[in-house]
Amino acid sequence: MSEWKERRIAGPYRPGEERETRHSLLSDTLLRLIREESLPERTVLDVGCGNGRLTFALAGEAGRIIGIDRSDQAIAQASRRARADGLDHVTFVCGDAERIDYGGLGPIDLVVAHLCMSDEILRRAGGVLAPGCAVVFSTLHKDQWQESGRSSRFAYGEPDVETALAAAGFVPVYLEVERHLLSFSAATDALAYLEESGLTSKWKAESRWDGFLGYLERGGRELTIRARVTVKARRR
Ligand SMILES: C[S@@+](CC[C@H](N)C(=O)[O-])C[C@H]1O[C@@H](n2cnc3c(N)ncnc32)[C@H](O)[C@@H]1O
Repeated sequence: MSEWKERRIAGPYRPGEERETRHSLLSDTLLRLIREESLPERTVLDVGCGNGRLTFALAGEAGRIIGIDRSDQAIAQASRRARADGLDHVTFVCGDAERIDYGGLGPIDLVVAHLCMSDEILRRAGGVLAPGCAVVFSTLHKDQWQESGRSSRFAYGEPDVETALAAAGFVPVYLEVERHLLSFSAATDALAYLEESGLTSKWKAESRWDGFLGYLERGGRELTIRARVTVKARRR
C-alpha cells in the first residue's frame, strides 16, 4: 500500500496579495503524474473536462484525447477551441460520466480527471482500463473550507479514496493530500478574504456563512482555502 504524502502550506492573510491557491488551478503534481505515462502512445479520457483546461494542457503530448462532460455549453466551447486550433486528435463528448460506458468511446488507456470524481466514475474507469493502465486525478479533499462546518458532498477523505480505488480494481501508486491554510489576525480580515475571493454571496446562500461566523466568534482565525487529494492508481 502506498503511503499518503502530506503537503501543507500555511501563511498569513495579506489583503490584495496574489495567492497561488485559486480553486481551479491545475497542480504540477497532477500534470507530472499524468506525463509519466508516455502520452504519445496513449488514448486519454478526461472525465468532467469542463471547457477543456486539462484536456488542452495535455493535447500537445497525447496520442489521442477525449474529454467528456455533461455540460453541453462546456463541450460546445471546448469543441470550438479544438477545431480552431486544428487539434484533430482531440474530441469532446457530452454525456454523464456516471452513466455512460467508457468502452463505447473507443479503446482508452489512461483516465484523468481534475475536480470531477466519484466512486461511480472510478468504477467505470476500472471497467475500461486494461491491467497496468492508470487513472490519475486530483479532486476536493474533505478539509477544504472545513472551518465553515461543511464539506462538499463530492469531497474525499483518505479512507474514502482507498476504499473506492480497491472497489474499482485499482492499486494506488501515488497518494497525496495538499492543504493550503490562511491565518487571519482579526475576524474582519477573514471576512475581507471571503469578499475578495468572491465567496461571500455563495456562502451566504449556504450554511457555510453561519458556520464560519460561529467559528470566528469562537476565536478561530484560520481557513483551509485549498485541500486536494491527488491520486495515481493502476488497474490490477
Ligand atoms: C469543477 S469543474 C472542473 C472542470 C475541468 N476538469 C477543469 O479542471 O477545469 C467540474 C466539471 O465536472 C462536470 N461534471 C460533474 N459531474 C459530471 C458527470 N456526472 N458527468 C460528466 N461531467 C460531470 C461539470 O459539468 C463540470 O464541468
